Amino acid sequence: MYKIALTLITIVFCLCTTAQQLPTIVPYPNQYTANKGLPFKTILPVNLIIDSSIDKNLLLQIKLFEKYCTENWQMQFNKIINRASQSLIIKTLPSAKVGYYKINISQNEISIIGSKSGVFYALETLKQLQQNKQLPACTIEDAPRFAYRGMHLDVARHFFSVAEVKRYIDYLAAFRFNTFHFHLTDDQGWRIEIKKYPKLTSVGGFRAGTIIGRYPGVGNTNKRYGGFYTQNQIKEIVQYAESKYINVIPEIEMPGHAMAALASYPYLGCKKEGHQVQQTWGVFDDVFCAGNDSTFVFLENVLSEVLPLFNSKYIHIGGDECPKTSWKTCTDCQNRIKKNQLKDEHELQSYFIQRMEKFVNKKGKQIIGWDEILEGGLAPNATVMSWRGISGGIEAAKQNHNVIMTPGKPLYFDHSQSQNEDSVTIGGLNTLEDVYNYEPIPKELNSQQAKLILGAQANVWTEYMTNFKKVEYQIFPRMVALSEVLWTNQKNKDFTRFESSLPNTLEKLKTQHTNYSTAYFDIIGTVQPTPNHTGVLWQLQTKSKEPITINKNMWDTIWRYQKPELIKETSMMYAYNNKQHLQQAFAFNKATGKLVKAVEPASKRYAGNGAFTVVDGVQSLKGFAKAAEYLGYEGTNAVFIVDAGNEIETVGFKVHTLHQPNNWIHGATNVTIYISNDDMRYEPILTTATRLGNSLQTILLETTNKIPATRYFKFEINNIGLIPAGYPGTGKKAWLFIDEIEIL
Ligand code: ACM
Ligand code: ZN
Repeated sequence: MYKIALTLITIVFCLCTTAQQLPTIVPYPNQYTANKGLPFKTILPVNLIIDSSIDKNLLLQIKLFEKYCTENWQMQFNKIINRASQSLIIKTLPSAKVGYYKINISQNEISIIGSKSGVFYALETLKQLQQNKQLPACTIEDAPRFAYRGMHLDVARHFFSVAEVKRYIDYLAAFRFNTFHFHLTDDQGWRIEIKKYPKLTSVGGFRAGTIIGRYPGVGNTNKRYGGFYTQNQIKEIVQYAESKYINVIPEIEMPGHAMAALASYPYLGCKKEGHQVQQTWGVFDDVFCAGNDSTFVFLENVLSEVLPLFNSKYIHIGGDECPKTSWKTCTDCQNRIKKNQLKDEHELQSYFIQRMEKFVNKKGKQIIGWDEILEGGLAPNATVMSWRGISGGIEAAKQNHNVIMTPGKPLYFDHSQSQNEDSVTIGGLNTLEDVYNYEPIPKELNSQQAKLILGAQANVWTEYMTNFKKVEYQIFPRMVALSEVLWTNQKNKDFTRFESSLPNTLEKLKTQHTNYSTAYFDIIGTVQPTPNHTGVLWQLQTKSKEPITINKNMWDTIWRYQKPELIKETSMMYAYNNKQHLQQAFAFNKATGKLVKAVEPASKRYAGNGAFTVVDGVQSLKGFAKAAEYLGYEGTNAVFIVDAGNEIETVGFKVHTLHQPNNWIHGATNVTIYISNDDMRYEPILTTATRLGNSLQTILLETTNKIPATRYFKFEINNIGLIPAGYPGTGKKAWLFIDEIEIL
């Protein structure tokens, strides 16, 4: 073996007798064997012996590793080979599977062999193995489970600098991801320089303002916002990623999410004027015109500049969330449908994607599209990214297409990580555990079809990530869990082991000044009924080892939480340990905690805590951001019967619903209250039309007539049914969201 004695690194090790915990390695290796006798090795100056098989890039990575060791472990390196020292020997094996590596740490040396990327991963693993300047004597033989291990970043909704994107790439590399999906264009910004169309960035790269807070917002910043990457910067990012064995897949969105392009070149739309770079979030009706050939000329010219900047075999061309509204009334689009004997606008979308695929294939590349590209017929060579759940992925694999799994649940990292989340997120809940337990291969596929699942990816949409620290907060530690889903074979996955290594992982993130969420250790409160329906039980849980202390109202005595706390009256409860606190308001009325029956079942998607949700004493303050505090009904009415336990006097009623038409949620149209003392014959006593317009809608029903003492109360709460004209989602089933019902 021809050996180069590098003047660089050197590490030597000496036996150490103290027993130590096995260091954290994430993602966990597939084969780890401790070398018996348990020598932990102290790192001292060593010889670095680099085989001639190591290429220029890997040499650079080894140099960076050396720098890391010097800076973090204060290692000294032998300038010339010292026979008395021990050695770190590094070699690539041309025949090794991509990502494969083997590390052997023995008495006399550390040896690393592997594929190029494998050697790189081995160096990352050594960084993780190091503990108190020692390495455990062991053998690790490892290779990834999935070939596609992806993280996505949306730089359109919010823009991140080249330095921040590189830092993002560092994170991917540290956890052995190998694909960076770079979402470069959307309604709110076009972020890549195209020399033939300079307005794409001079106009499309900037918006006049941004909504404030959660959609639909509480105002607008009215501040110009934007930015873009020059082609040279893109090349710099791609080269940086590739040096860390990460492939960059650009996404140029079409035919929808195109407002920034349309604002720059209005002829690209069905409507030829009146477009703007969007300042709010969501889906917009104006999209690329599919009938006008100049749209295709434009997109082909754009791709002709984009493709050479990336070495990726794949280009992502979007295809998601493209409303057909503008195509339906556009003469050019309708002519295209007729001329090509297309059935409808879905087939027109399919025509669009297939035409672009032909162009991309001619350039020697392949397309990826979101799962909507299945509608109207899949382009022959397309890879499908399944995001609306997993059914698109299953369907595509059954049609013999390659698939990348990115289901919203649990792989959208823009969702909250804890039900206690108090920063603005898009909503939904994807916990660390949800991510860890995600299995990319659907049970529905046979073993041949399963091979078409190339891997999975988390998506990071940045509507509510206005700065890079927030991006870090949203991805950590969830991307660490995902790294194990993608790398570690199923039989070697173990949440208990992963969980026990979490504090160590977080500590390492802290030392490198990375922001992360501690949601996993949050105090989580739930409210449960009591067996005899007097009051409600407040139950607290936490993964933190610290005891929980609670108190009622601010100045009352403090006590240690032992068991679910019985709450019997309107109160403000506080729970805390050293790291966090939780506050919960309870609002009591005569229905709170009583036996309640939902005559009509809520949608499974918004099933809350069953019918009890509407009498649990918790009145939602956050609306849809805390959807679990509601029962959701899709197009149907809600009917509840409350059993007060005995006949009671009452003076009125309240119903709390949500009114958020932008999210297809409409307040109740009217409410009727019925009373009964035998739960059989019900008599209507009060009815009211509601007040629409408040986002948290409260309907008050009062009467000056005396209501007879009653045991059973029936609340009939009517859904608007189909969404009326003038609102988003016209003609679709409206959602009715019930928070709480009250007997006064
Ligand atoms: C997507 O989330 N619209 C792919
Ligand atoms: Zn058109």
